[in-house]
Formats: sequence, C-alpha cells, structure tokens
Amino acid sequence: MSPYSNKYIMTKKTFQFSKKQTTFYFDAEFAFLEKLIGGDHAIIVTDEHVFKHHKKKFSQWKTIVLKAGEAHKQQATVDDLLGQLITAGADRKTLLVGVGGGVVTDMTGYAASVYMRGIRFGFVPTTILAMVDAAIGGKNGVDVGVYKNLVGTINQPEFLLYDTSLLKTLPANEWVNGFAEIIKHGCIKDAAMFKQLLEHKLSDYKKDAKLLGALIRRNAMIKAEVVKADEFEQGERRLLNFGHTLGHAIENLYGLSHGEAIAVGMVAASVFSETLTGFKSTAKVIEAFEKYGLPTNAAFDKAEVFKMLQMDKKRERTAMNYVLLEKIGKGVVKSIPINELEKFIQQV
Ligand SMILES: NC(=O)c1ccc[n+]([C@@H]2O[C@H](COP(=O)([O-])OP(=O)(O)OC[C@H]3O[C@@H](n4cnc5c(N)ncnc54)[C@H](O)[C@@H]3O)[C@@H](O)[C@H]2O)c1
Ligand SMILES: [Zn+2]
Repeated sequence: MSPYSNKYIMTKKTFQFSKKQTTFYFDAEFAFLEKLIGGDHAIIVTDEHVFKHHKKKFSQWKTIVLKAGEAHKQQATVDDLLGQLITAGADRKTLLVGVGGGVVTDMTGYAASVYMRGIRFGFVPTTILAMVDAAIGGKNGVDVGVYKNLVGTINQPEFLLYDTSLLKTLPANEWVNGFAEIIKHGCIKDAAMFKQLLEHKLSDYKKDAKLLGALIRRNAMIKAEVVKADEFEQGERRLLNFGHTLGHAIENLYGLSHGEAIAVGMVAASVFSETLTGFKSTAKVIEAFEKYGLPTNAAFDKAEVFKMLQMDKKRERTAMNYVLLEKIGKGVVKSIPINELEKFIQQV
C-alpha cells in the first residue's frame, strides 16, 4: 500500500469563525473531493503548473487554469477568471475550489467573494506555504502593480482538503519557502515543535509522509487558532507578521524569495528582542534557518530599507508595531518608536 493511501485515518477538524465555519480534512486524498462536493455544481480553479503535474486528477472536473506565479496575482487575472465563470454558467449555487499555492487560493477566495456578491468556496492547497499559511484565515485578494495584497476581502473558505502527496511535485525552493513559515510558527507559538524541527532536517519530512502530515496539521492548527482569536487583526493575528516587516522591505528591494526575506527579518527581530524583551535564543533561531537552507543575514542598504519600513502599512505615525520574541514559542507585539527602530536597523 502506498504511504499516501491513508483515507482511513483522515482527521476532520472544524473551526467556527465570526461569519462562517471552515472544516479541515487532514491526511485526506484528492479523490475525497468527489465525496465532499460531488453532488454540487463545482468548478476548480488551478494554475498551469499544478494542472500540468496533476492532470489526471482534474479530468472529471470542470477546471479553469490560470497562469502561474505572483506576477499574475492581479485584478486582470481575476477579471479573466470572472469572465470564464460567466461563460461556464456559474450561478449562486456554484462552488469554487482553488487547487494550488497561495496565489491560486488568494485569487479563488477573492473571485468567489465578489462573483454574484459571494458564492461558496473551498481549497485544496498544494504548496507547503499554502497548507500552513496562505489558504487559512480568509484573507484573499490581489496585488495592484507592485503593492502586495492591496485589494481583497476577508472571507473564510468552507473547507480545506489536505493531500500531502500533491507535494511530491513541488520544487525544492518552494519546500524551503514553506519551512520559513513553519519555523516562524515555532518561534511565536510552539517551542516543542521548534525543538522537533532542530532534531530533524528537511529530507526527513520529505521522506516520511506521516511525519510531514503531522507537521502540516500542527502548523495549520496554529494558524487557524491565531486567526480564530483575532480574525480582523486587532492583536493576536499580528504575531503572524514575525519577521515580515523587515522581510517585506528586503524582499521588495532585493528580489529575495519570501522565505529567504522573512528568515532574515526573523533573525533581525530576534536580535532586537535581546534588548527589548531580554530574549536569549537568537543562536537557536539562526540554527533552525541554517538547518532548513535559509539565510540569516543579507547585505542591504540600511537607509533605503528604513525608508521602505516607514511606508509599511503597519506603521502608526511615530511608532511601529513590531513582533518580538520573549522566548522560543512566545511572540509578543510591541510598539517601537520609529527613531529607536532606525537605530536597530543600523545595527543589523
Ligand atoms: N491569504 C493569506 O493569508 C496569505 C498568507 C501568506 C501568503 N499568501 C500569499 O500566498 C502567495 C504565495 O503562495 P505560494 O508560495 O504557495 O506561491 P504560488 O502559489 O506562486 O506557488 C509557488 C509555485 O509552485 C507551483 N506549485 C504549486 N503547487 C505545486 C505542486 N504541488 N507541484 C508543483 N508545482 C506547484 C506554482 O505554480 C508556483 O509556480 C503570495 O501571493 C502571498 O501573498 C497569502
Ligand atoms: Zn509570510
């Protein structure tokens, strides 16, 4: 029996959010979609890479295939998708299923939220990042030119179906990207998982479907719990921005991958934490990123990056909310005066 023939141990978990509930089906198989929504008028939305690698899985479904990649996460792509929905005769009873990485799930959730003022939707995430992060929490939308995620809605999917065998075709760099968010979750919320990550390496998770499935479930639960506690980002949800403030600035300026940029951002935030919270484990954070093939520092123009930081949407006039660590597994949000932040950035 293939290690992925695990339909008998599928785990179901339902989260009640403010307006909707989302059911997670972990350790499931793609074929379970038929049982879940077979009777519904469903349309799958995917991208050209996922479609190419998993063609057979789509054969029984009406499928709309989008161009792959962040560059296409734009309103024009959504407009095209909406046009295809009209052509396909989609109506208020249609259920959209986004099968792909975060780009696909963000656009599917957005299109489903606005088509006929809102139709049902669910996701089958196919990247590590989408499984543990992007597909969870209801944020969806598109970039506007260079401005990331500027337009969109918050609207929870009805279901998430996890089939980790889909990851067999995921490029190596996308595994690394996803693990940056997994390490982030360990830093802000889960010391025991952080320890497990240090005891293992990426190839252990790639080889062992059970180990990987458990890790993904644990991370999906961390994200879902944080979102449930603070769906509209007034407090707790901000923790998920650990490493992302500086990360976004250097990602934009220096063309690093998202995972690489936030890894550098998390190490910098750990260093800031030493002064601001008495955090003592920066060396462990660095060890984790090195272990999973992520950078821990980058040469960047401090003045330029500081200018970018000031434009970050999380800025509040003279101070900025910054996510720090008190210890591994305990993130905190602190308001840092802008001038103090400038001094810190100079030291990175
Ligand atoms: N909504 C949220 O809360 C949230 C959170 C984090 C990130 N995001 C968004 O998610 C996006 C990044 O997501 P991502 O990293 O999944 O990127 P992605 O969707 O671009 O996927 C990465 C690449 O992998 C390919 N791919 C996906 N699954 C594959 C598979 N199983 N086999 C082979 N190739 C596969 C894709 O075609 C793409 O080329 C960004 O747009 C980001 O803004 C959203
Ligand atoms: Zn991220």
